[in-house]
Amino acid sequence: MSTAAIQAVLITGASGGIGNALALAYAAPGITLVLHGRDPERLSRLACLCERKGSTVITQSLDVRDTEALIAWLHDISRKVTLDLVIVNAGVNIQGGEHRRGETWADIQYLLDVNVKAALATVQAVLPTMRAQGSGQIALMSSLAGYRGLPIAPSYSASKAAIRAYGEGLRDWLKPEGIRVSVIMPGYVESPMCHAMVGPKPFLWSADKAAQRIRLSLHANRARITFPFPLALGCWLLGALPPTLSGWILRRLGYGG
Ligand SMILES: NC(=O)c1ccc[n+]([C@@H]2O[C@H](COP(=O)([O-])OP(=O)(O)OC[C@H]3O[C@@H](n4cnc5c(N)ncnc54)[C@H](OP(=O)(O)O)[C@@H]3O)[C@@H](O)[C@H]2O)c1
Repeated sequence: MSTAAIQAVLITGASGGIGNALALAYAAPGITLVLHGRDPERLSRLACLCERKGSTVITQSLDVRDTEALIAWLHDISRKVTLDLVIVNAGVNIQGGEHRRGETWADIQYLLDVNVKAALATVQAVLPTMRAQGSGQIALMSSLAGYRGLPIAPSYSASKAAIRAYGEGLRDWLKPEGIRVSVIMPGYVESPMCHAMVGPKPFLWSADKAAQRIRLSLHANRARITFPFPLALGCWLLGALPPTLSGWILRRLGYGG
């Protein structure tokens, strides 16, 4: 299926910065948006804006850590709406804490449940219908932090590296069946999550600019959607360098933790 024919888009984490901008980027007459988040009020405000742009909107508020509820909802919505594009975007970051306290085990479990377990559960739940129809597109939200572990965010980096590896494997597995899979690896994008991050934030993009880039790149079925270019190149090189050298560079740049 050509992306020009996209009629229904599901976005998890649509109540956040990037998800919100993505919903507005796809909102248009003839497009059904299935918008997920936790906060029903923010979702309903977003739904009004998307409806004003001509979209039909369905909202769903649930905590993705409840994977049983998540999967049941996705099975149900897949029966009611032919999903052309599913953007697996919901995610969290955790802080290492003051004075090198480090991440807590409770926070790490929370992060892995949202960023990894729920993301894979989302894909598992929508895949049977996409495979049966022999079409569809899945976009997985990773991060440039998935190229090289950051001392200021080791678990977050690990979760995004997992999503990158998963998405790349998935893409080649599903290609013969007509299902397209892309991995999105943004740099710093204005959002509540980005605002809470520690460390320098070079080449910061607005969420609208990021959403437009993502939409165009998904249309072109890019395997990896990375931006902004200078940071993407730098992070890719850091991942390719010997870890002792890349660790030294990260400390010099203020990401030492
Ligand atoms: N901003 C950046 O610089 C940046 C860079 C690289 C990658 N990313 C990735 O981009 C994605 C979106 O991030 P963002 O910057 O837009 O962050 P954000 O504004 O904090 O939005 C996060 C979204 O995820 C949802 N979410 C979090 N935990 C959830 C849970 N347990 N159950 C259901 N929904 C949950 C939030 O829902 P509620 O708000 O309703 O709780 C919100 O809609 C994330 O995967 C993030 O890792 C962001």
